[in-house]
Amino acid sequence: MHVNEAIVGRQSIRAFDTSRDVSNDIIKNILGVAGRSPSGSNIQPWKVWVVRDEAKEAISKACYDRHMSGDLGEREYNYYPVNWREPYINRRRATGWGLYGILGIKREDKAEMQLQHGRNYAFFDAPVGIFFTIDRDMELGSWIDCGMFIQSVMLAARGEGLETCSQAAFCNYYDTVMQLLEAPEDQMLICGMSLGYAASESVVNTFRTEREPVSSYTTFLPKASDE
Ligand SMILES: Cc1cc2nc3c(=O)[nH]c(=O)nc-3n(C[C@H](O)[C@H](O)[C@H](O)COP(=O)(O)O)c2cc1C
Repeated sequence: MHVNEAIVGRQSIRAFDTSRDVSNDIIKNILGVAGRSPSGSNIQPWKVWVVRDEAKEAISKACYDRHMSGDLGEREYNYYPVNWREPYINRRRATGWGLYGILGIKREDKAEMQLQHGRNYAFFDAPVGIFFTIDRDMELGSWIDCGMFIQSVMLAARGEGLETCSQAAFCNYYDTVMQLLEAPEDQMLICGMSLGYAASESVVNTFRTEREPVSSYTTFLPKASDE
């Protein structure tokens, strides 16, 4: 697969094929490839937790129960802006409404929205869940490194015919997740991820997000005379 095809063809998958497992050997391959990601001074600050079967089920159930009980949880770090503003709030809305729209969930149907959001905690039926953590005393630069590592995992997964969905949703219940992972206190949860083969013929997986044009976020200097 050409690298551009791996990047452009990647999309967040929210329905996985329940009949197909992913072996630990394949996961080790993916993580080995992703481990070649760059990091400042090659310090490789990422840590990875792979869960399946009863380990995955325990996290699923505990988080799903909290979610469905109306417990919003709390986050250990702010993934999103504290004060939403344009242009980000509009992009966020477009993504949210686009996803719910394709599923036929109406804006006023809060119960259906809660159920759909709850699918996060079932790892969208993926056979494998992955959690990424970082030592809590690391600085922002190491978070950048982890972001690159996580993207590499998603792309290496595509090389194996696998798909993913990164999930900050698990950060709402980071305390539950970290406890069930038996992760030491010095670790902070960055995000979770579902990994598996995409379910064919799933409506939710037909959702494709938009991107801004290069010109909207790029400045070339010196500026061309016709710009
Ligand atoms: C770190 C991170 C966390 C995310 N968390 C969630 C999540 O909790 N649930 C979800 O359904 N999608 C989640 N997403 C997926 C984004 O919504 C998605 O990447 C974005 O809308 C662009 O769509 P695409 O991945 O299909 O290109 C997350 C993505 C990233 C990078």
